[in-house]
Amino acid sequence: MSRFQTKTILITGGSSGIGLAAAQAFIAEGGRVIITGRDAAALDKAQTTLGANAIAIQNDSGAPDSARELATALKAKNITLDAVFLNAGAARFAPLPDVTEDLWDATFNANVKGPFFQIQALQPLLNRGASIVINGSINARIGMPSSSVYAASKAAVISLAKTLSAELLPHGVRVNVVSPGPVQTPLYGKLGLDAAALEATAAQILSQIPVGRFGTPEEIASTVLHLSAPESAFIVGTEIIVDGGMSQL
Ligand SMILES: NC(=O)c1ccc[n+]([C@@H]2O[C@H](COP(=O)([O-])OP(=O)(O)OC[C@H]3O[C@@H](n4cnc5c(N)ncnc54)[C@H](OP(=O)(O)O)[C@@H]3O)[C@@H](O)[C@H]2O)c1
Repeated sequence: MSRFQTKTILITGGSSGIGLAAAQAFIAEGGRVIITGRDAAALDKAQTTLGANAIAIQNDSGAPDSARELATALKAKNITLDAVFLNAGAARFAPLPDVTEDLWDATFNANVKGPFFQIQALQPLLNRGASIVINGSINARIGMPSSSVYAASKAAVISLAKTLSAELLPHGVRVNVVSPGPVQTPLYGKLGLDAAALEATAAQILSQIPVGRFGTPEEIASTVLHLSAPESAFIVGTEIIVDGGMSQL
């Protein structure tokens, strides 16, 4: 298939995990992809992996100022967008007594404030028919201990997809959420858990996935491409859950 021939797609957090897999899938279908991330070395590596149809831009997607800088940089290159995958996010887990204001702010900046102001800044660059997909999480749907702040932040983007679809539909733009269950990516090393706690958490999570395995980044990417393509034009302001049944059975 080549659903994204002549299309330009922005992916925040495209240097690793689900974002990188989505970038590869869009390019495989003819798309030109812009990826962002904070770490320059990771971006360089991703640029090499993705090749000439990718542009890597260092940008912190958790800050409104850098959202505006990104929009300015794209405008300077005469780039307009057919799809945006707001994928970058922070996952730090802690039980209630250990949650700090810093953890709250870092999580909400990366997962809610950042995506909101990215959409605001990028709106003038969106072509008619453009699709925005925000990366959520099934943590918004389940009561997993220690996930309270992360889960609340991911619940917020389900609401944003609805209200911002209502506001942007007159411009031909729709917003949806993909909500992954557990997916094997480097994210797990960033949860703030030591090796033993990480292993115990992984085993505990695995025991709750009905299909008996973690998902792959490619399985999430395929839903992102579906939501980004005109074939899903009737899917507006909602969420597709891709979780091996974890939040459903
Ligand atoms: N893996 C899972 O099981 C799972 C499940 C549900 C939802 N999700 C969601 O999927 C998304 C991607 O996670 P992943 O598992 O693919 O993680 P990952 O492999 O750790 O990749 C995260 C990517 O986002 C970038 N990023 C993080 N914070 C950023 C920021 N402030 N500005 C710009 N880029 C930033 C990272 O690059 P830099 O660090 O260099 O900036 C990296 O490219 C997240 O929103 C996460 O909540 C993941």
